[in-house]
Amino acid sequence: MRYLKIFLVTVLIFVRTAARADEGMWLPLLLSKLNEKQMKSLGMKISAKDIYSINSGSLKDAIVSFGGFCTGEIISNKGLVLTNHHCGFDAVQNHSTLEHNYIRDGFWAKNYSEELKNPTLFATFIVRIEDVSTLALSGVTTNMSESERQSTIDKNINLIRTNAKKEKYQDSFVRGFFENNQYYLFVTETYKDVRLVGAPPSSIGNFGKDTDNWMWPRHTGDFSMFRIYAGKDNKPAEYSPENVPYVPKKSLSISLDGVAENDFTMVFGFPGRTMEYLYSAAVEQIMTVNDPAKIAIRDKALNVIDGFMRKDEQIKIQYAAKYASIQNSYKKWQGEVMGLTSTNAVGKKRTYEAEFQKRVDANPQWKEQYGSLLRHLDDAYSALKPHGYARDYYTEIVSRIELFTIASQMNSLVAAYEKEGEKGYKTRLDQVKNILSGIYEEYNAAVDQKLFETLMAMYIKDQEARYVSPLLKEFLNDAEDFNKLAVKIFDATNLDDAGATMKWLDKPAAEAVVDIKKQLVVQLQQDLLKTYQAQVQGKLNEIQSSINKLQRTYMQAQMDVFKEKTFYPDANSTLRVTYGNVKGYNPRDGVQYGFYTYLDGVMEKYKPGDYEFDVPEKLRSLYNAKDFGQYGSNGKMPVCFIARNHTTGGNSGSPALDAYGNLIGLNFDRVWEGTMSDINYDPSICRNIMVDIRYVLFIVDKFAGASHLVKEMKLVHPKKK
Ligand code: ARG
Ligand code: GLU
Repeated sequence: MRYLKIFLVTVLIFVRTAARADEGMWLPLLLSKLNEKQMKSLGMKISAKDIYSINSGSLKDAIVSFGGFCTGEIISNKGLVLTNHHCGFDAVQNHSTLEHNYIRDGFWAKNYSEELKNPTLFATFIVRIEDVSTLALSGVTTNMSESERQSTIDKNINLIRTNAKKEKYQDSFVRGFFENNQYYLFVTETYKDVRLVGAPPSSIGNFGKDTDNWMWPRHTGDFSMFRIYAGKDNKPAEYSPENVPYVPKKSLSISLDGVAENDFTMVFGFPGRTMEYLYSAAVEQIMTVNDPAKIAIRDKALNVIDGFMRKDEQIKIQYAAKYASIQNSYKKWQGEVMGLTSTNAVGKKRTYEAEFQKRVDANPQWKEQYGSLLRHLDDAYSALKPHGYARDYYTEIVSRIELFTIASQMNSLVAAYEKEGEKGYKTRLDQVKNILSGIYEEYNAAVDQKLFETLMAMYIKDQEARYVSPLLKEFLNDAEDFNKLAVKIFDATNLDDAGATMKWLDKPAAEAVVDIKKQLVVQLQQDLLKTYQAQVQGKLNEIQSSINKLQRTYMQAQMDVFKEKTFYPDANSTLRVTYGNVKGYNPRDGVQYGFYTYLDGVMEKYKPGDYEFDVPEKLRSLYNAKDFGQYGSNGKMPVCFIARNHTTGGNSGSPALDAYGNLIGLNFDRVWEGTMSDINYDPSICRNIMVDIRYVLFIVDKFAGASHLVKEMKLVHPKKK
């Protein structure tokens, strides 16, 4: 009996860890301690040291944070960087005009001199990671207030950074992990001269657009290429025509052999944010309050913008990136609610919490420390609920109406003038001009006016009266309806006109300030803000700070109480490794998805002239001729595949690597049913989507004729050894 019990417990623990093999975003420096064994059992043929090492070139030296919002990887010894089309899109858009429409037609530099500079883009390498928890937390006590705690830690972090060993051209930052129970130091190297090398037309790079976004089966060639330039010494340097292609410590070899079901894969990159250790009520609130509120607002906004984009080519170019980004989270949240519901995430959390409470109650010390933790969390989330809803309403609506953004910039000039006079105004003016010209480049007053009309109506109708700006109610009474109100506000101002506003800014400060204050829209924006600050923000900050403390304690408590579990820290835009096998899935009853898509599927989706599903003539003829070069497989052209890698936003552009560390694909999305992996990963339906590297090379070589780029790369055949 006793042996049977031991046996059962062992089996249970084994099953539990085995089933969770694919969950987790792991710190590269801890792989050898926490993951190497399991990675090898899943099929990995290299060592943890090959992935992360600070002494010799390892895979990490080929990975960059691309502009701070995506991931990129080095694929040649001349600093060639691969990332997603949607990550490089802003750069492509900035270089596009009606005559040179690179969004529509694609772009390929034929040589170094044609590569295009991007003033705000950068690529950051991670030189070294160190656990600095003890130093960061020194002097911190449990009875400190949150702000005392933070200022102690801030001082410690400053010291850690000052003392960190690094070269002059390197940088460093310290970030909190496990809800700030632990801290790690990152030494980094940032290159600021990153040039656009090539991008396919949107009909390939964003094939299927919003209809296919977050969807499987997928057929998108979501990639673009850049090149890092360095000073003559190969060190980071500001942009200069004299700069030379960067010679990397490591560049990835590229496998032409593809993957089969169950093959080992890993994804290496910079996941942005996850919340895996939330209390059940928090998850429930996301599902029933916050996601639905944001979805409803974006639904209306997208409708407005889409109506204009379909009718006007200029607006279509101007609003393309904005539209895609609003739509992206909109659709993700829908999938999140769906997945949390279908996997009974809240129920599972509750079971887990019951087990937690049981173990805590059975241990006197834990009972004292953690006994009432869950109850406090419950109270705090109840208090948060109405304020969280009001916050989402305010931020979603006010940030969608760009005239308010412009008004708030103008108002910052007033504030600067009132605080520091002429001098303050002048200093602020340069920044404001910069920001406004960025906004106006992608601005259309008619679109914005319609957004104002539509969203202000929601702001009033869907909220309790106490959260609504009194001035708006007054304006509305005078104007009768939202349409007339919008006309009145927009007619009364020049702020929706780039030329007029820029001229205005050249007036003497005193005169400009008087004018700005007279603007109805500035007054309205100020009143919306004031109402929000008075009714929501103060209370919200207070509740949030108590939740942060409770969550931090709860995180530590989970690690104390569930000793058999290996915990990984939530994503926080730092470098992580995730791994799992190639696998199809079962999205709902009676439906089975395979793990590969092919060019045949692109042709099945092809709709001539369609905004989302058109296919370039050249691609159709390559398909008809089956002219796939060395990139095809058994007469077919692979396009995308899925696997069980735990990824999130920020992992876009991350390399998918095979068991040997060769590049096999480029991560760019997750499946819709599984977007709740940010909150509650479930191996049954969570999959990441990658474009097959052979499709990337086929497009570069056969479609775009940029074979000189393929010649820079190192192609290998690991399966044909
Ligand atoms: N869903 C992917 C991500 O989160 C791709 C987004 C870009 N594509 C789009 N159609 N909006 O970034
Ligand atoms: N497309 C996402 C990004 O931009 C990656 C997909 C995800 O959220 O997993 O990072």
